[in-house]
Amino acid sequence: MSAARQPIGVIGTGYVGLVTAAGFAELGSEVWCVDIDAAKIERLRHGEVPIYEPGLKELLARNAARMHFSTDLADALVHARLLFVAVGTPPTYSGDADLSAVHAVVAAIPRSDEHALVMKSTVPCGTGASLRRVFGEQGKGGLAYVSCPEFLKEGSAVEDFLHPDRVVVGDAGDWAGDAVVRLYEPLGAPLVRTDIASAEMVKLASNAFLATKISFINEIANVCEETGADVVEVARGMGLDDRIGAKFLQAGIGYGGSCFPKDVDALKQLAGNSGYHFQLLTAVIEVNELQKRRVIGKLQKHLGSLVGKRVALLGLAFKPNTDDMREASSLVLSARLNADGAVVSAYDPVAEEQARALVTGISFAATPLDALRGADAVVLVTEWSEFIELDWGAVAEVMGGDLVIDGRNALDAEAVRAAGLVYEGIGRR
Ligand SMILES: NC(=O)c1ccc[n+]([C@@H]2O[C@H](COP(=O)([O-])OP(=O)(O)OC[C@H]3O[C@@H](n4cnc5c(N)ncnc54)[C@H](O)[C@@H]3O)[C@@H](O)[C@H]2O)c1
Repeated sequence: MSAARQPIGVIGTGYVGLVTAAGFAELGSEVWCVDIDAAKIERLRHGEVPIYEPGLKELLARNAARMHFSTDLADALVHARLLFVAVGTPPTYSGDADLSAVHAVVAAIPRSDEHALVMKSTVPCGTGASLRRVFGEQGKGGLAYVSCPEFLKEGSAVEDFLHPDRVVVGDAGDWAGDAVVRLYEPLGAPLVRTDIASAEMVKLASNAFLATKISFINEIANVCEETGADVVEVARGMGLDDRIGAKFLQAGIGYGGSCFPKDVDALKQLAGNSGYHFQLLTAVIEVNELQKRRVIGKLQKHLGSLVGKRVALLGLAFKPNTDDMREASSLVLSARLNADGAVVSAYDPVAEEQARALVTGISFAATPLDALRGADAVVLVTEWSEFIELDWGAVAEVMGGDLVIDGRNALDAEAVRAAGLVYEGIGRR
């Protein structure tokens, strides 16, 4: 058996676990997937894909023979030495990462000199060191530990697994780190082999930096609105500078999702717990919260009081090509609109089921035009391509009013105006 075909276990079959499992199966590994969610495992056994992620269904189908699903960790322990951990690490009330799922995995692993935990979940810097201490306390000192943070993006996760910008492996220099490096070798990605704490910090710092870029351009957009500049032009001019780069310079109604909000918070708390006040991140978080609410001000500027006004939301997911609603800007927006007395209708191509569980007081439409029928204003919340390609003439015919707020600066302003509608973006002239 070639080194690249080493069998692996994957604990947690969410966005990261399932993509990691299918990706390594594609590279030739037998993969034993374990989850405590019995219903999810049952669906996966029947070839169903519980999440929406482009290309994942095909990847799972193509590698079905090499993928095994179970609720019993013992199945993975018997067949694989490397156990990739991809359980959730949501925020606690204090903003720290909740590591209870990680600790549950550690508690369930028996004594072994054969196995290694490979941490894919995003954890605070220092988690590896404290887990290795726990191994010792529980008489499991023979377990190896590797930090292998995940950088995939929902919406292009399969592509990101197969073509990563880099692979980061933090380890204690034992067999497990070497084995993880060999697993990733076929992808030919630049490798950062380092110590465990540094690998953990690479992940937190990367997400914090990207969130900072977003909050920075959002503040520039807000200043553009006061000064007559157009943030799209400004970002284009900035982004051509190699030192800056064009990515993550799209102004809008704030970042969301399962990672940025919690990881930025977790790094801020981690710094605070260690006695350091991370001032920059405090501002990044505050700017993002205010940015989600700026749409309300724009609506009021055009419509006056929102009581009884009909507002349509196009898109609910935190970004296009995913059904993930965690920390989506639409959650804050719909709650604020409800509180201000607006009548809200919404359409999202795939996130409706998740949204129904989280959002109350709005109606869900079956098509974009159904959501827009009779609306005084429409807000583009998620830049799904079907919204960018909308026929604005048809939109103008069904709407009651004429206001289009482009919360992602993704629409063709001229096409919107040509249909007789009023266009307002974020930081645009
Ligand atoms: N979603 C992303 O884009 C992304 C990207 C990079 C890193 N991450 C990180 O990866 C981790 C997982 O994120 P996700 O979005 O895949 O989460 P998720 O909520 O989609 O999936 C987590 C899965 O773990 C399972 N689980 C929980 N406890 C378990 C246990 N004790 N044993 C077995 N299974 C268990 C849950 O049932 C669930 O299926 C998080 O730490 C996250 O921060 C996520």
